[in-house]
Amino acid sequence: MPPNFNDLSPPERIDVVEAPKDNVVTQEIVPSNVGIKAVRSFATLLTHILIGIIVGVSLFFSLRNGTPLGATPQHVILCVIGYQFLMAEAILTLAPDSWVASLSLKHRRWVHTGLQIIGSILAIVGSFIKMADKEVNFNTLHGKFGLAAVVFTSVSLVNGCASLYAYELRKCIPGILSKLTHICFGTVAFVMASVCLCYGIDKGSFRNALSTRFADSLIIMTGTLTTIVIINPLLTFYVKFSGAIKN
Ligand code: HEM
Repeated sequence: MPPNFNDLSPPERIDVVEAPKDNVVTQEIVPSNVGIKAVRSFATLLTHILIGIIVGVSLFFSLRNGTPLGATPQHVILCVIGYQFLMAEAILTLAPDSWVASLSLKHRRWVHTGLQIIGSILAIVGSFIKMADKEVNFNTLHGKFGLAAVVFTSVSLVNGCASLYAYELRKCIPGILSKLTHICFGTVAFVMASVCLCYGIDKGSFRNALSTRFADSLIIMTGTLTTIVIINPLLTFYVKFSGAIKN
């Protein structure tokens, strides 16, 4: 498979360090810009903490009354695990210094694809469970953003395949086009899901189950998580777009 993904991270410098006592030669990897790497690694750590809190609290909210689960708890569990856990992690796999940074680009793309497919299916099923449970649909901002997230997720899932096989499909669709639209649709889907979640957290049931202050903090955490997660796709989009314009 052709290497059709731009890795924005600078190449590593490998220094050979002589061990004086036993004459064994070891290799030490010295990053070329330690500061940027430290900031990126810290952002990755912060992201995982935020994902843990947001998903954990949503699971607590959904499971607090025990089983059997009604339509709303099922809906919340599937949507939050789909969007804020699996889809966020899927986007992060392609960022430098992510949790799969030690894998090759080809394998990171497979991890990304797998997480995106599972996350999208869970999120779409979770959304449809609640749509089917309602008599009047899309009459709230929460529902409207949820619908937008479902639409963009579905499109992103389809053209993600085109992006994965961009080289093979280059005669039907220019590779750069499938990649740019995939980044665009995927990022919009994730942002729509986050806005939708904020309106979900803002609902009376959620605020009553936790506290108003904690719900507000969770909304701020969702905004912070979303911002960190979309930084790399936006940078990649900029690099690819400006490259396409120059060529
Ligand atoms: C990423 C997270 C979420 C997504 C993508 C999402 C998406 C959706 C969708 C698509 C609908 C159907 C709208 C309609 O047919 O009119 C809906 C309805 C609903 N959701 Fe969520 N939801 C999420 C999180 C939550 C959370 C955390 C709660 C917690 C209370 C919640 C509670 C509800 C309720 C009560 C409804 C029915 C009332 C309404 O439409 O506003 N959802 N959601």
